[in-house]
Amino acid sequence: MNKKVMLTGVRPSGNLTLGNYLGAIKNFVDKQEDYISYIFIADLHAITSPKKPQALQEAIYNCVAMYLACGVDPTKTMVFKQSDVLEHGTLGFIMTFQTKMGELSRMTQFKYKSMQQTKEGVNTGLFVYPTLMVADILLYNTSIVPVGKDQQQHVELTRDLAERFNKRYGNTFVMPDVYIAPVGNKILNLQNPLEKMNKSDNSNNKGTIFLMDDIETVKKKIMQAKTDTLSCVHFDEENQPGISNLMSILSKITNESFESIENRYKGKGYGEFKKEVCEVVSTLLTNIQQRFHKFNNKTLLDSILADGAKRAQPTAQETLQRAKLALGLQS
Ligand code: TYM
Repeated sequence: MNKKVMLTGVRPSGNLTLGNYLGAIKNFVDKQEDYISYIFIADLHAITSPKKPQALQEAIYNCVAMYLACGVDPTKTMVFKQSDVLEHGTLGFIMTFQTKMGELSRMTQFKYKSMQQTKEGVNTGLFVYPTLMVADILLYNTSIVPVGKDQQQHVELTRDLAERFNKRYGNTFVMPDVYIAPVGNKILNLQNPLEKMNKSDNSNNKGTIFLMDDIETVKKKIMQAKTDTLSCVHFDEENQPGISNLMSILSKITNESFESIENRYKGKGYGEFKKEVCEVVSTLLTNIQQRFHKFNNKTLLDSILADGAKRAQPTAQETLQRAKLALGLQS
């Protein structure tokens, strides 16, 4: 049977978090052998907010080394940088021209990120960010896109635009499906469990676990995580968001069901439960960090990225060609 295509990407904007790993990268790694797999560094997406060039370079290398440390296998998966495959930019431009202002204004991530700024000051990159994502996905005939819950709407937009394009210009793009894992699709900030865990937060990063945090810091963050006064390890996202978040983290790493965790902690306090979460997360991160140091070698990373782009580009080129033919840009 012909393998289907799986693709995902991460913005290299700062250090990757436990949310990135559990919400997207782990799901990708677990399935990478079952698909024709692509994972890329969304470096063009990263420039929607200005950065020092050196810092962006470091973040890109950091991100590739982290993919490898998390288990992405470049012999099974094409690992590349978005900006190395020029077709992303061209198809992104084409798809922007197929999109209505209303469709982009409805994107919750745009609404959230542009909230603090005046309308005139909002970067147009932030506005058209999703249409580049549409191109990223469509270029490779992708069937499945593993992402966290926050990116679901962007994949749905991809489906809408692909469908409209196919209807208007003839069958050109494969319809992708989003894959949102049932557990861990939205890891929350440990200090404010009403917000998503982000690469930066308002609590001096006490609410965010970075994959490269030192282990003692990780333990402190987990032991100080906000919970509630109910004193019952129970999965209830509405009334016990902090405890439910820690249960999601534990369950996603160990595969233990919520019910089984609840049974083990009947009548026991939060302290003991948090200690187990510390142990499990520490073991995971120690492992990832050891592997990170092994892979953090620019010569190695450059060769993996060059090879990934070389293998990815022909499919991107074919799809762009198809789109140009369909539009009448080429005969
Ligand atoms: P980014 O870099 O914000 O996040 C990378 C992936 O991590 C997931 N994620 C989370 N999952 C669970 N809990 C969290 N707290 C959490 N934080 C982040 C995100 O959902 C995402 O899957 N636009 C994308 C990158 C991108 C992309 C694409 C992804 C560009 N083109 C095409 C898939 C397909 C982004 O900014 O993700």
